[in-house]
Amino acid sequence: MRLNPFTGIYLTDPARMWRRILDDPDGVHYAEDLGLWLISGHAHVRYALADATTFANALTLVPVYEVCPAAMNVIMQIDAPPTTAAADPPAHPRTRRALRATFANTPDRVEAEYGAIVRRRVDQLVSRLAARRGDQVDLIKEFATELPLLVVLDILGVPDADIGRIRSWADGQIALIWGQPDPAEQVRLAQDLLEFWHYCEELVRQRVRGGHEGDDFISRALTYRDDDDTVLTVPEVASLAFNLLVAGHETTAGLLAHALDQALSTPRWWSAIVADPGVVPAFVGETLRFAPAIDGWLRVTSRDVTLGRVTIPAGARCLLLIGAANRDSSAFAHPDRFDPHRADVGNHLSFGHGPHFCIGAGLARLEAGTALARLAESIPDLRLATEQHRSYKPNIAFRAHHTLLATIGDTVAADVAATRGTTPADVRAA
Ligand code: HEM
Repeated sequence: MRLNPFTGIYLTDPARMWRRILDDPDGVHYAEDLGLWLISGHAHVRYALADATTFANALTLVPVYEVCPAAMNVIMQIDAPPTTAAADPPAHPRTRRALRATFANTPDRVEAEYGAIVRRRVDQLVSRLAARRGDQVDLIKEFATELPLLVVLDILGVPDADIGRIRSWADGQIALIWGQPDPAEQVRLAQDLLEFWHYCEELVRQRVRGGHEGDDFISRALTYRDDDDTVLTVPEVASLAFNLLVAGHETTAGLLAHALDQALSTPRWWSAIVADPGVVPAFVGETLRFAPAIDGWLRVTSRDVTLGRVTIPAGARCLLLIGAANRDSSAFAHPDRFDPHRADVGNHLSFGHGPHFCIGAGLARLEAGTALARLAESIPDLRLATEQHRSYKPNIAFRAHHTLLATIGDTVAADVAATRGTTPADVRAA
């Protein structure tokens, strides 16, 4: 079969394609157009995510197409050691231990360590939007992609002034690996990625020189390694930062975009959130299931493996269709219905499953929940613009809106920043 992810309905309406694939009894297909095996059913996707020995990560961050030689020359110079999504044992359990020790990943730790950062950044951005009463705004550009990036910069101790380059490098990495750039674009994106890696190395060198006394993630990771390369090497610290700067913002930007799209395109959902912010966590959970920010994830088989009636050979790259798994009726009642009250929402696979389960799940939920509740409180008559051309960036992993146009209504809560103690300088800085 062919997935045609960059042109067909998979690009504009992926759920239709997921339904078509799920309705096929095999559930595992070879996509000739991509040279990838597609795994779609909930049980199979969950199994593949959990069994990281059979479905290894070594090629998860390697482009999905044949890269031109000039771009490959540049990519080969990026000597970042595998630490997270690209790492397999024995490195992964060790780097994962380091990450768990230095990056908050349980609800209590996330609230204690990142709660104030998230609320400060949400307030800055909501204040800026609220000040544009009556205007049309692009919620993607002016909110959804901005918030998670500012938060992750704070957590890593990276100056706000670098936001533009980091955004462009991160967008470029996603297009380079999971998109379909032409050869000239591949070379440009590969050069950008090399520059991004050098930037992360320099961030770490600066902390090493300065004695890494701070409470930012990079300083914590250096302190954790305690000059012991068997615990974590200095290049591995840079590699963790390299991964977090992308994983920490593009994903949560997608969650925010999908949540705002779901809420605002069905006015009764937005009214429900405005009336009772207590519904927000369930709403965010159902958005994760229904419209995952990452709806396909790569693995490579280390041996022949049989799923149902299909045998995938060793060494095959597989695209785990998380979006399809989340619509499988064997795991979810009425899977194509958006229902924040559903009891089975916890079965979704949007943060993965097993040894590579997303380390930032708690942070993403906190950011999306805080953002939605604060927007609803401060700009209750936020409305989607009537002229809306919804489209997604061509990509097989990240489902990212190009734009989401909305109008800021006239009902705006008095002074968002003042009610939370944010200073005008903070607001300008945002
Ligand atoms: C809605 C937001 C997010 C989504 C949908 C998401 C999704 C995912 C998925 C699907 C994986 C792969 C899991 C697997 O292979 O089993 C993953 C891994 C990861 N995520 Fe997230 N993520 C989100 C937010 C974040 C944030 C905010 C951070 C950090 C600031 C983060 C950091 C990571 C890291 C480091 C890994 C690799 C973990 C490992 O390999 O051990 N993610 N995420």
